[in-house]
Amino acid sequence: MLLTTSACSPSDEPVESEIPAPVPDPEPNPDPTPNPQPTDGRALVVWFSCTNTTKGIADRIVEAIGAATWRIEPETAYTSEDLNYNNSSSRANREQNDPSARPAIKSTCENLADYDVVFLGYPIWWGKAPKVIFTFLESHDLTGKTIVPFCTSHSSGIGSSDTDLHRLATEAEWKQGRRFSGNESKEVIEKWIESMDLNLNDNTNMGVFDLSNGTNGNAPTIKLSSGYDMPIVGLGTYSLHGATCVNSVKTAIAAGFRKFDTASVYGNEEEVEQGVRESGVPREEIFVATKLYPNQYSNPEAAIEECLRKLDIGYIDLMLLHHPGTNDVKAYKAMEKYVAAGKIRSIGVSCYYIKEIDEFLPKVNIKPVLVQNEVHPYYQDTEVVEHLHDLGIVVEAWYPLGGRGHQKELLSDPVLSEIAAGHDKSVAQVILRWDLQRDVVVIPGSSNPDHIEENISIFDFSLTDEEMAQIAALNRNEKHDWY
Ligand SMILES: NC(=O)c1ccc[n+]([C@@H]2O[C@H](COP(=O)([O-])OP(=O)(O)OC[C@H]3O[C@@H](n4cnc5c(N)ncnc54)[C@H](OP(=O)(O)O)[C@@H]3O)[C@@H](O)[C@H]2O)c1
Ligand SMILES: Cc1cc2nc3c(=O)[nH]c(=O)nc-3n(C[C@H](O)[C@H](O)[C@H](O)COP(=O)(O)O)c2cc1C
Repeated sequence: MLLTTSACSPSDEPVESEIPAPVPDPEPNPDPTPNPQPTDGRALVVWFSCTNTTKGIADRIVEAIGAATWRIEPETAYTSEDLNYNNSSSRANREQNDPSARPAIKSTCENLADYDVVFLGYPIWWGKAPKVIFTFLESHDLTGKTIVPFCTSHSSGIGSSDTDLHRLATEAEWKQGRRFSGNESKEVIEKWIESMDLNLNDNTNMGVFDLSNGTNGNAPTIKLSSGYDMPIVGLGTYSLHGATCVNSVKTAIAAGFRKFDTASVYGNEEEVEQGVRESGVPREEIFVATKLYPNQYSNPEAAIEECLRKLDIGYIDLMLLHHPGTNDVKAYKAMEKYVAAGKIRSIGVSCYYIKEIDEFLPKVNIKPVLVQNEVHPYYQDTEVVEHLHDLGIVVEAWYPLGGRGHQKELLSDPVLSEIAAGHDKSVAQVILRWDLQRDVVVIPGSSNPDHIEENISIFDFSLTDEEMAQIAALNRNEKHDWY
């Protein structure tokens, strides 16, 4: 059927459109969309979609760049009759014909201020953006943002639907919009994003800790490149099992820990979950990291599902690849899909050094938010730490205290002991503080309540430059474990 928008639209510029009939049933109006997590200098994909075509493109953008996403939901959902363009008095047609129509939207995107780039997606309705997009633009402050419009349609191009919107956010920088068919490939979408030079990977201040925000029992957080906040002190749970693990998690939460590091191969994800649940602290206030082991990389979806089932906390805050290995890129890409589905919030890797990370990055879409590597005063790995920081990747130390079976020498090191005595602190506390002062996250493992409390009581002193240099001089390049 060939229709012209002038048949039912008062728009200044009639657009000839071949429109298929009839519109499929839209999905029922979902619950209000949760506010996206704030990110620094990164992108947010805001979209409106009745029959999920635009949603599909929005999802591919999110997957391509790891952006946050927010759905525009009208207060009153559109029924298929509302969308019936063959009926000149259908709701959609009436709204498109009424210059003052502004359909109410369910909620406000609270965290918009935290994003620099806003991708704005909509279906073409009679050559134009639906009026609900006008409502969104008029009810949000987009000053200083870069707006990238994109649309889907049956056959029309984007026409003037994007430029018509400019007057609704005059203080924004508008990029030229682009129309996609519903089945547009991810590669095309990625090339389009790359071509705009949006500077999405601005790493300014990424990974720099503000230790003045910390108090004993209350570690500061660092903003990951995914936009989520992560405490910079956590409890490592390697080798903790059964009641020991559950009690260590509960003791740590009571002492103020809010981050836990586990892994499928540790066999204690259920105990970590039990500890979190029994602590009484809401799950949303806790950050749980787990890892896929190389023998799981060939069937990563099953492995991720198993982690989700065992942890049973709704979503995983951070998932890492435990080591490089066959199929690691495949496993990471599976994790990327779970990020897009909202089941994993942030992803990263472990035991990746300069060569490994440089080879890995071009093969994946979402930059790892974090790399977890062996780091302690006898194995400082400074070059790797600096390289990762330059890439805007947070570094986390495993074996911060030298690792089980290796603490004796490290914790009685004469230089560290003297520095510790000078601050009336333990050697363990000095080591953990040294890590934080070089912007390295720590996850000391412990099942001893006194040690647990000690390990998060490192915010009432600081090491001088001279002490930092003395510790730097202890490096022996002595690795205590490979993986
Ligand atoms: N990605 C990887 O490949 C990898 C590899 C290894 C570890 N990790 C992760 O990193 C975490 C940390 O490593 P880790 O637990 O093996 O070694 P670690 O944190 O270097 O050392 C843990 C040992 O230090 C002792 N300890 C803890 N706090 C202490 C304190 N304040 N004073 C004296 N001793 C103290 C603990 O004994 P008590 O229980 O008696 O306190 C335990 O024996 C692991 O739990 C795991 O989550 C990852
Ligand atoms: C009221 C209405 C008007 C439409 N007008 C056009 C049009 O002018 N040109 C066109 O190619 N498609 C038109 N379409 C089709 C939609 O743009 C297309 O199906 C779009 O991909 C739907 O996106 P969604 O699934 O995200 O809601 C119209 C659809 C509706 C409901």
